[in-house]
Amino acid sequence: MAKNVDENFFAVTPEILELTDLCKSHSTIDPELYAKYDVKRGLRDINGKGVLTGLTEISDIISSKEVDGKSVPCEGELYYRGINIVDIVRGFIAENRFGFEETTYLLLFGELPSAEKLEKFKQLLSKYRTLPTNFVRDIIMKAPTFDMMNTLARSVLTLYAYDERPNDTSLPNVLRQCLEMIALFPQLAVYGYQAYAHNVDPNYSFFIHTPKPELSVAENILYMLRIDNKYTALEARILDLALVLHAEHGGGNNSSFTTHVVASSGTDAYSVIAAALSSLKGPKHGGANIKVMMMFEDMKKNIDDWEDEDKVADYLNKLLNKEAFDRAGLIYGMGHAVYSLSDPRANIFKKFVKSLSEEKGLTKEYKLYSLVERLAPEVIGRRRKTYKGVSANIDFYSGFVYHMLGLPPELFTPVFAMARIAGWSAHLLEEQINVGKIIRPAYKSISAHREYVPLHER
Ligand SMILES: CC(C)(COP(=O)(O)OP(=O)(O)OC[C@H]1O[C@@H](n2cnc3c(N)ncnc32)[C@H](O)[C@@H]1OP(=O)(O)O)[C@@H](O)C(=O)NCCC(=O)NCCS
Repeated sequence: MAKNVDENFFAVTPEILELTDLCKSHSTIDPELYAKYDVKRGLRDINGKGVLTGLTEISDIISSKEVDGKSVPCEGELYYRGINIVDIVRGFIAENRFGFEETTYLLLFGELPSAEKLEKFKQLLSKYRTLPTNFVRDIIMKAPTFDMMNTLARSVLTLYAYDERPNDTSLPNVLRQCLEMIALFPQLAVYGYQAYAHNVDPNYSFFIHTPKPELSVAENILYMLRIDNKYTALEARILDLALVLHAEHGGGNNSSFTTHVVASSGTDAYSVIAAALSSLKGPKHGGANIKVMMMFEDMKKNIDDWEDEDKVADYLNKLLNKEAFDRAGLIYGMGHAVYSLSDPRANIFKKFVKSLSEEKGLTKEYKLYSLVERLAPEVIGRRRKTYKGVSANIDFYSGFVYHMLGLPPELFTPVFAMARIAGWSAHLLEEQINVGKIIRPAYKSISAHREYVPLHER
């Protein structure tokens, strides 16, 4: 706690509670009114279809198909710049290469790089992988926090102060700033974690490993994070795959839409990306993967036989009844705002998760995940009104993967950010190239107009 403040400074006092009630009584809107004025809550209809707010060439998500003039749920598909994610993954895995750098190039520039262009692009990222002098000492080690998303956002905003042309929103300058952020995110997050871990536990040795130019982004993350710099080929490949699968997801997901909204005001690239990071931090967006892992830890403690279907189903029902884990009534890792029958990213991930669980001796846990993946949609379907179906989303397996990789939970959401900065950058550039108009949708006021009452008459 900061010095010089009263010990009740952070407490929720009766006065704060009273003001909260006042705030609620004047800000609660009758849910019927949303239907009356045809306001799409969450900017989506009940089938998960979003209100059309923009056009993009960066990616495409398919979750339903037209059959006899009717929209029906289908297996999910994801395309980066028109290429199916399944084919992208198959392509680099077949050639035993890392895929994140190639994917980033594709998202930013719209075409697959030749071998020569890919090599040059990797060298460019490596050039930008240099933090300003003393940045770790002066910024990252100061006021360390347990939330690396906060550390990342603060670091990004501080990079502004070290930039000679921070407010220059011309395209080449913004591209240069994006490349710098794509290159630096792993260092900012990993170093932020080292500073925090050492701060809370002085026995945790504080070490800073500088990234190696010849390593891929995924390898460098593991190289910087581990005290002995060691990792297996499978670990690096799976982390690379996670980065590819999290790199982009359309213009409508919460953080990419934030990117468009904030960029449309004409502000600088660092401010735009700090806002996107703040959106991703939320548990309904990037923060869900930690919740999945914590939920499974609780499940493992509370079920003696992990293969007993009835016991597992019983626990899932307790989750929905708000009687287990965080009592939020949710089975984390299940369901998606857009996908219905399946999330293609979860399907791809699952195949590799199995091999990693075998390498780590965690096949029992893997079986439990598979069982929950099978039972949860039935349990949710029986208990909630689902219009489009529920299936495992990417976060269902990513938390388990990061856990198997030995990543600290504090870095789960930042790994998502290290990947999604590629998509945000592509959206930022696309907004600047095409739109040029500030985003300003409508909100209908439902309050009656009234007279101002002078202070002595209230
Ligand atoms: C992602 C999520 C917010 C989408 O919610 P949504 O857009 O309302 O999805 P749907 O329209 O399919 O939901 C229909 C109903 O099923 C419920 N439902 C969906 N997924 C659920 C889950 N995992 N656990 C419990 N109930 C769920 C919804 O709350 C809704 O019921 P309600 O109308 O009574 O609120 C939701 O599935 C969720 O909270 N999942 C768990 C968190 C998570 O894994 N997030 C990561 C997403 S990548």
